[in-house]
Amino acid sequence: MATLDITPIAGALGAEISGVQLSEELSNTQFDEIHQAFLDHHVIFFRDQAGLTPEAQKRFARRFGSLNVHPYVKGMEGHPELLEIIKEPDDKLNFGGGWHSDMSFLEEPALGSILYGVEVPDYGGDTLFANQIAAYEALSDGMKEMLGGLKAVHSASREYSAKGQSAQARQSMQSDTATDAPEYEHPVVRTHPESGRKGLYVNPAFTLRFAGMTKRESKPLLNFLFDHSRDERFTCRFRWSEGAVAFWDNRCCWHYALNDYPGQRRHMRRATVNGDRPF
Ligand code: SIN
Repeated sequence: MATLDITPIAGALGAEISGVQLSEELSNTQFDEIHQAFLDHHVIFFRDQAGLTPEAQKRFARRFGSLNVHPYVKGMEGHPELLEIIKEPDDKLNFGGGWHSDMSFLEEPALGSILYGVEVPDYGGDTLFANQIAAYEALSDGMKEMLGGLKAVHSASREYSAKGQSAQARQSMQSDTATDAPEYEHPVVRTHPESGRKGLYVNPAFTLRFAGMTKRESKPLLNFLFDHSRDERFTCRFRWSEGAVAFWDNRCCWHYALNDYPGQRRHMRRATVNGDRPF
């Protein structure tokens, strides 16, 4: 019998889970239910997790795999595996506002990210998510067949170069620059290693071009895929509350932090679980 309440928040993806405190040691049954909900809904949410200290957040995240230490952004003091994502009330930076899948620029990109709301604005600052399995499944058979033979080149070089949006937004986080960041090729259609389902695996932040093609040649089809992938049919929107947690599957989801709360502070803390090489 299920021990947790799992309630979908939208048609395409996303479910809120209640009946568990992530700061406590999870039983195997609780872990299995959370893991299954993560696979079924692609992004899961937990409210009122006020006791989720950095240690507890890392312990929960490690149930799913080893933790990533970001190559270009300095981690939290004493906790290099945690990123503090802070926007101050007077920050003029174009913070958030870009669809992406975390760390697709790595040879083995992130499995998932676990974001904890330390301090959230009274209004605004929601996060959007987009289901890339649904986006793939909605394509025509002809397009699926063509994409099935393609790989795309991913790199941090644009976003984390000195002028890149992520590097700018993370000035307070002492971002290093990534002008010479390596490039990795990943399949455009990725098979989810746990569910076996196929999804699109390109994103506007880190995908530079198709393998074997120029940027100019790649642009029209990539732009079509970027537009298609964020169609509202495939999305959900999470309204943060203090102490809430979102855990998304980067292997089949994009996310987008809305920058619509000028004059307010937003402080989030992220753990990123390492994944494997896309196939
Ligand atoms: C992120 O892109 O990892 C953070 C998303 C957010 O702050 O809502």
